[in-house]
Amino acid sequence: INVPKPINEPIYDYAPGTNERESLKRALAEMSEVVLDIPLVIGGKEIRTGNTGKVVMPHDHQKVMATYQKAGPEEVQMAIDAALAAKNDWQAMRWEERCAIFLKAAELLAGKYRYQLNAGAMLSAGKTAFQAEIDAACELIDFLRFNVYFAEQIYKNQPISSPGVWNYLQYRPLEGFVFAVTPFNFTAIAGNLPTAPAIMGNTVVWKPASSLVYTPYLFIRILEEAGLPAGVINFVPGSGASVGDICIADPHLAGVHFTGSTPVFQKMWRLIGENIASYHAYPRLVGETGGKDFVFAHASANVEELTTALVRGSFEYQGQKCSAASRAYIPRSLWPQVESLLRRDIGKIKMGPTTDFRNFVSAVIDKHAFSNITQYIDYAKENDGGEILIGGGYDDSVGYYIEPTVILARNPHFKTMVEEIFGPVLTIYVYEDADFDKTLELCDTSSIYGLTGAIFARDRQAASVAISRLENAAGNFYINDKPTGAVVGQQPFGGGRASGTNDKAGAMSNLLRWVSPRTVKETF
Ligand code: ALA
Repeated sequence: INVPKPINEPIYDYAPGTNERESLKRALAEMSEVVLDIPLVIGGKEIRTGNTGKVVMPHDHQKVMATYQKAGPEEVQMAIDAALAAKNDWQAMRWEERCAIFLKAAELLAGKYRYQLNAGAMLSAGKTAFQAEIDAACELIDFLRFNVYFAEQIYKNQPISSPGVWNYLQYRPLEGFVFAVTPFNFTAIAGNLPTAPAIMGNTVVWKPASSLVYTPYLFIRILEEAGLPAGVINFVPGSGASVGDICIADPHLAGVHFTGSTPVFQKMWRLIGENIASYHAYPRLVGETGGKDFVFAHASANVEELTTALVRGSFEYQGQKCSAASRAYIPRSLWPQVESLLRRDIGKIKMGPTTDFRNFVSAVIDKHAFSNITQYIDYAKENDGGEILIGGGYDDSVGYYIEPTVILARNPHFKTMVEEIFGPVLTIYVYEDADFDKTLELCDTSSIYGLTGAIFARDRQAASVAISRLENAAGNFYINDKPTGAVVGQQPFGGGRASGTNDKAGAMSNLLRWVSPRTVKETF
């Protein structure tokens, strides 16, 4: 069998008058009217604990879309037991058969369930139609298809043999279960974290973020429809303490596939370190965590392209991407033009419910995010060293709305210039053109993170200097483009430093973390 190299799923633009737009609108209308009852799914069974949470629409937080069940200690143990019980049969299945299930799920997502998933992301996560389409449809489909393709490459990668000696590698899954902990900001990432280990023959306990339960639940149902056997992926929303601590304390923990905040990943790593002697094997820790992603402009930059990148990179999906541009370094010679273009472009941004397709930004995910982000805006209003240049307003009376905000930092170490905010806030530092080299150094050293970054320069020599000086400042480095929007199979995604283990989502290197190969030498 040869898995054909996939092509990226085409992106629908949902232009007015298209059938796609009408279908999406129908899905939005239907899903707005039903309050979904989301159970835990453990060993293929629906479980209800009676301890429930609500899924509300970020743009209208009085509208309840679903109730979901929260797992307690007993259910988490059930999920671990179900994953372990499903393991033998799952790992014994031929890889082609396992992979067929995920390819089938990709087809269901691309066709039958595309509008439902997108409408779910628009209503429950505050995504515009475009942001939902590139995430809950295209990127998730791409993860499934490309991971199957990479799995085949791995299985077929075999050592050399000679007459009388046959050597081969058995790419066994890890011994035990994998714990997948997923974020609110991408349905694609939420879907990738449990399925990547499962493709390689692992079974999984999956804790989605409390603020993104709706689309992960739709996805788990799609996996079931595609033929995923019971117990391979067990869906257990709940608190970090009740789900995480139990999974981490279990001697069968074989790995963690995590996307979320740096402090939570560090806490998990610490707990795993404390328990290290109790595991059957060293757990694999794969994490993608925070970012303080930069856009660095050289005096030779094209200012129109630069401004578009700043606006899209900072404000699409309300800046709630780990890859979002949140600090920029602009040379004094370009600043007057950049400032006026930013005022022009941000002035045109429409903010409102995602159901109105004209809106470019909507509400942030929840009350907690709203209060965290607005504290940073208030800090800039109240402290010297920075000033609000554009935006700065917010209102959570109906939805969790925060205006796209630009802060000008006089001090390059100003709080909003160095700390992760995870919202629609861009901080800009204007440097003297002659200080290009010194400012690159500042960009490199003033943040603990290393996820994404961009250099804008028409002068190739300047770009080369930036590429080499910022070598470890970004795992995804863009030249004359925004630092968001990595495409599976094109820009493998992930970074180092405090941003994660850099195991590149949507790449073979990630899938290799979910196998523990056995080398067999047989002589004749
Ligand atoms: N992979 C996402 C991006 O590149 C986070 O924006």
